[in-house]
Amino acid sequence: MRLVEPATRVAGAIAVPGDKSISHRAVLLAAVADGESRIAGFGRSADTESTIAAVRSLGATVAETGDELAIGGAGLRGLAATDAPIDCGNAGTLARLLPGLLAGQEGREFALDGDESLRSRPMERVAEPLRRMGARIETTAGRLPLRIEGTALRPVRYELPVASAQVKSAILLAGLFADGETTVVEPAPTRDHTERMLQAAGADVAVRSASVTVRPAERLSLGEVEVPGDFSSAAPFIVAATLVPGSELHVHGVNLNPRRTGLLEILDRMGANVTVYNRRSIGGEPGGDLEIHSAPLVGTTVGAKDVPLAIDELPLFALAAACARGESVLRGAEELRAKETDRIEATVDALRPLGARARANEDGFSITGVPARLRGGRIDSRGDHRIAMLGAVAGLASREGVRIEGADVVGVSFPAFFEIVEQLRRSTRGQRQWSEP
Ligand code: S3P
Repeated sequence: MRLVEPATRVAGAIAVPGDKSISHRAVLLAAVADGESRIAGFGRSADTESTIAAVRSLGATVAETGDELAIGGAGLRGLAATDAPIDCGNAGTLARLLPGLLAGQEGREFALDGDESLRSRPMERVAEPLRRMGARIETTAGRLPLRIEGTALRPVRYELPVASAQVKSAILLAGLFADGETTVVEPAPTRDHTERMLQAAGADVAVRSASVTVRPAERLSLGEVEVPGDFSSAAPFIVAATLVPGSELHVHGVNLNPRRTGLLEILDRMGANVTVYNRRSIGGEPGGDLEIHSAPLVGTTVGAKDVPLAIDELPLFALAAACARGESVLRGAEELRAKETDRIEATVDALRPLGARARANEDGFSITGVPARLRGGRIDSRGDHRIAMLGAVAGLASREGVRIEGADVVGVSFPAFFEIVEQLRRSTRGQRQWSEP
């Protein structure tokens, strides 16, 4: 149990750890690249540690110095069969992307497993398209554990039934091994880190507005990757500084890929005061610094097209909506029910006891906002890192503070999260505290 007390203001300058999505992809691609790859700014967390352990068990070498990794690749077709099942822990991205690489390792067998939460999440969405490519892959009633027998693959043109970057990525990775062009058609744009990194590693990837095509590859060469700060880890602090009156916060070196920053668009519609400066490319991705001042918010509607661009930030949208004037609605977000928890129910159940007027719908939620601090109270993370972070931001912006049951789960994506929360909470009124990251 952890108590986050109200903040009088949120002020200072912070940096957040390296992007989790990009860190997973960098380690996975480095593991199948030729020679040594170097990753700087690696986002160390329980999830990305699972990916390091996985590639080690598959025969890649990983030397770690702080947040720098040097990875000796096993080559595109050189992953070794493992004795024990590969433990993906809580990491959905690892469990969904890795099968794409394993499916093409001819003559070798693999098994994948995960923790209780990951074992409850859908895997057939990856297995089904890979089978169309000729992959030999078995799920356990649609979930983990998964068995894969590496084999020759054929190309596919696949229309994703749900907008999912993880599924898209698995198919593109398998496409490297297929004997022709593999195309994935997306119902709505999703994060494109895999496409960008594959291109950087020398793969032939053609990106169109609604589809991506990959051609088979002989080898990959990744070289050096710089991982930008994780927008999803910056998001709790962006919302905290927006909600707590008198705040002024800078967040440095953040990934600002438009496929990730849907929350900024949503907050902008609600009247938030967020400025981007020092726009620059960080590790082949759009990036920059953010300056956030608190602002009064009004309610808004978020629809299906906005959802993939803010998928992991939608619980935070709910909190912002609860403190905004008027009604807010989220629609077309049934995917939230397939995350670490059912995030529609978990979000509404977390916010209501704190004083928010929120209702769950089949594909989202409806919120009647009141432009004032929430009362506060108690929430249970239910083992979901994003719900624990939601509770912390609610605590900073509340009148009485929030007690979070299962708060330690933030380590899944952001182990130092509560240190930054406390640093910002102590930035008292009238006193500017600039603590450099
Ligand atoms: C991720 C994609 C998203 C996101 C997850 C990370 C990725 O999942 O929710 O946290 O790294 O590709 P889906 O692709 O299943 O929507």
